[in-house]
Amino acid sequence: MGKLAIIGGTGVYSPEILADVQVVAVETPYGEPVTLRVGTYGSHEVVFLPRHGQKHILPPHKVNYRANMAALKKAGVGKIFATAAVGSLNEEMKPGHLAFLDQFIDFTRGREGTFYDGGEAGVAHIDLTHPYCSQLRDLLIKAAGERRIPHHPGAVYVCTEGPRFETGAEIKMFKAWGADLVGMTNVPEVVLARELGICYSTIALVTNFAAGISPAPLTHEEVLDVVAKNIGHVRTVLMESMQLLSPDTHCSCQGARPFA
Ligand code: HPA
Repeated sequence: MGKLAIIGGTGVYSPEILADVQVVAVETPYGEPVTLRVGTYGSHEVVFLPRHGQKHILPPHKVNYRANMAALKKAGVGKIFATAAVGSLNEEMKPGHLAFLDQFIDFTRGREGTFYDGGEAGVAHIDLTHPYCSQLRDLLIKAAGERRIPHHPGAVYVCTEGPRFETGAEIKMFKAWGADLVGMTNVPEVVLARELGICYSTIALVTNFAAGISPAPLTHEEVLDVVAKNIGHVRTVLMESMQLLSPDTHCSCQGARPFA
């Protein structure tokens, strides 16, 4: 089955639920070595990676997504649970709720979004009809249901470039497009995972209503505050999902097959 990974988003910077944690620096062809924390949770070997660095020093557009995902692959990771703080465009999805993403709309610009850049790297076009692993998402839904944690089993996420929050007009447009949630980090992370054939799922924690829906201006402090208050739910769903995960959890997440 390979190792599991937890990618910690905003407010999730340490692998508290893991035992026997060791720090490992992994070299990749994509720049600085990536520092991973490798430990155990029950019978699982689990790798923890805080997406923004341990002290949140990396803004979303500066995260080295390719290095991170290549390092997880090299460390033997087969399945990823990512966490993400998100704004909500959907009145039903309120601050403090969890949502398990099933689709995304990409509104990022200029990020390195593929391992297949042509030349020696080759060319590949992956299928992303269903970008998130449905098996892992089913586990998250079951875990949240069993623990009676307020959650939404599916949500359309729009990924913006950041680091600024959106304008009111952008949010109106995203809503008309069918988006439920907005954040700045799932793309290209989920795409790169699929290229590598790693199953990827996201536990999104709603921290605010999005610009123009919220009556007040948005602040990063508000986001951090709501994450801090609800981190227990995220942790519970993570732990329960890992307990529910068995070696015969199979899915159809296929990695890239370069043709040139
Ligand atoms: N917009 C973008 N990213 C976010 C938001 C938001 O409103 N809240 C938390 N992350």
